[in-house]
Amino acid sequence: MNFAGKAAIITGGAQGIGRAYANALLDIGMKVCICDILEEKALDFIENIPETQKINTIFQKCDVSSLADLRNAFDRVKSEFGRLDIVINNAGVFCEQNYMKEIEINFIAVIQGTRLAFEFMDINKGGHGGYVINTASETGLEPLFLAPVYSATKTGVVGYTKSLGTDYHYRKTGIKVNAICPGPIDTALFHDFPSGSVDEKESKKLGSLVKLTKPEEVGKALLKLLDDDKNGSLLRIDCDGLRYA
Ligand SMILES: NC(=O)c1ccc[n+]([C@@H]2O[C@H](COP(=O)([O-])OP(=O)(O)OC[C@H]3O[C@@H](n4cnc5c(N)ncnc54)[C@H](O)[C@@H]3O)[C@@H](O)[C@H]2O)c1
Repeated sequence: MNFAGKAAIITGGAQGIGRAYANALLDIGMKVCICDILEEKALDFIENIPETQKINTIFQKCDVSSLADLRNAFDRVKSEFGRLDIVINNAGVFCEQNYMKEIEINFIAVIQGTRLAFEFMDINKGGHGGYVINTASETGLEPLFLAPVYSATKTGVVGYTKSLGTDYHYRKTGIKVNAICPGPIDTALFHDFPSGSVDEKESKKLGSLVKLTKPEEVGKALLKLLDDDKNGSLLRIDCDGLRYA
């Protein structure tokens, strides 16, 4: 499928996996709106991409736990790009001690973002159809004993994605819903989580056993998912490579 000239929203797009998604979509000629609370990081990213991609990139300050902020981002994309084709619900936190925040950002905001995606992209509501891609996690497929709430939020995202990514919803809206399930990825979330989040001794032990994957590989996984044009699928990406769950 040709995605050149089409438009995407990426939450949590200022760094890490979200930034890798942005690079991947810009490389195939898409227009991208980066939504994040980290304004400086996002502006620095835009500053350093090629001029041809700069004109295709906007930043919208957005706290995904605020429905008003999210709606503003969707409105901005519609008014600046004139269309919306891909919504990537990617913003996430790992802060087990603040589990309400974890649930709000990792799960509730994914639902809010997806509902807005359906409002803006539904073929019966003036949209062109499109894709919702949620960043879940391998911890949504297998338990993570160190972080039960984080794992539960990602399990929620997996169930939500599989329920919406069905023919019933696709026939009504023209929208496909999939998730990417990364294993341990070399980003700030993996290295810099707040102290006291998890048992530090166990975390160090586990950390020394895992092999990290670069965020760019998750960007490639996104392009594979779009290329395969699936619905309701879960694409795993880790040090063993790519595979559908
Ligand atoms: N790094 C990993 O090992 C790993 C593994 C599996 C899944 N994930 C998931 O990938 C996604 C991206 O994480 P990452 O690894 O790139 O981490 P990261 O910390 O580098 O990036 C997360 C981004 O989300 C943004 N964000 C956080 N709270 C926000 C909010 N309230 N509103 C808007 N933006 C907000 C951050 O500012 C940041 O830019 C997350 O959903 C995470 O759970 C990460």
